[in-house]
Amino acid sequence: MTKTAKSISIRKEHFSFKNTLLFNADTLNSGLFDEEFADIIVTSPPYNVGIDYNSNDDELSYEHYLEFSEQWMKNCYLWSKSQARFCLNIPLDKNKGGHRAVGADLTKIAQKVGWQYKTTIIWNEGNISRRTAWGSWKSASAPVIITPVELIVVLYKHEWKKTNGSKISDITGDEFKDWTQGVWVFNGESKKRIGHPAPFPKELPNRCIKMFSYVDDMVFDPFAGSGTTLLVAQGLNRKSIGVELDSRYCELIKNRFLKEMGVLNFETDKNSTTD
Ligand SMILES: C[S@@+](CC[C@H](N)C(=O)[O-])C[C@H]1O[C@@H](n2cnc3c(N)ncnc32)[C@H](O)[C@@H]1O
Repeated sequence: MTKTAKSISIRKEHFSFKNTLLFNADTLNSGLFDEEFADIIVTSPPYNVGIDYNSNDDELSYEHYLEFSEQWMKNCYLWSKSQARFCLNIPLDKNKGGHRAVGADLTKIAQKVGWQYKTTIIWNEGNISRRTAWGSWKSASAPVIITPVELIVVLYKHEWKKTNGSKISDITGDEFKDWTQGVWVFNGESKKRIGHPAPFPKELPNRCIKMFSYVDDMVFDPFAGSGTTLLVAQGLNRKSIGVELDSRYCELIKNRFLKEMGVLNFETDKNSTTD
């Protein structure tokens, strides 16, 4: 594992396994890492829709949520290499508690802090729950439109053309043909099965990592959640670092690795040091 920071007490290494490293820490803290290490970020931040996460408030005022978004995206920019790609899974919009163009607002903030815009992939979730709110039924007075998709906004730091890294791609021809079409259709993940309130399915990081990074690149997820990005990265022979605020979710990630990778001897709960 590469050296990523000094020994500092603001983060705690929860576990390391082969090329994966998980920190129980706060992504808002800009001092968490002191170098540009990420080749690709694949993440889904809290959506501010009132989800009952253990450790963070998911019902901020919209202004406060935008400030939160600006801070973590700025940190990710600092921690990314010059040719890094940033795959940001966010909602298109928000209909509860005021109608907001979340996707457009967060895309604008990402660009404000320095990220350059490349494209947006629409993720059409096949198994999204059925709607119940119509607004004004069969009347033009105030109909409500619900679009059951999420976005994967793709950005990059300085240059889109990737000249660094192993240059080894592992995407097949069929996958490339399919995934360069910007509407992706696959099911969401079950919260119950994973034991986390908002996991994304493995297919999401799988496509982003294979499409936008080389074997052996460093994948970063600043909101590791149940560890989906880290598990997929490990399986695809990438290095990865995750940050997760909640210690119970860190434990969940460790247990997913234990179950899915058949790992028995983690190095756990060391104070932070990757030196
Ligand atoms: C949408 S979930 C990520 C789910 C993840 N993609 C998965 O597949 O499991 C967002 C996660 O961010 C974590 N989180 C919220 N605020 C954080 C912060 N400031 N720093 C690090 N993690 C945070 C929450 O505890 C939650 O697990």
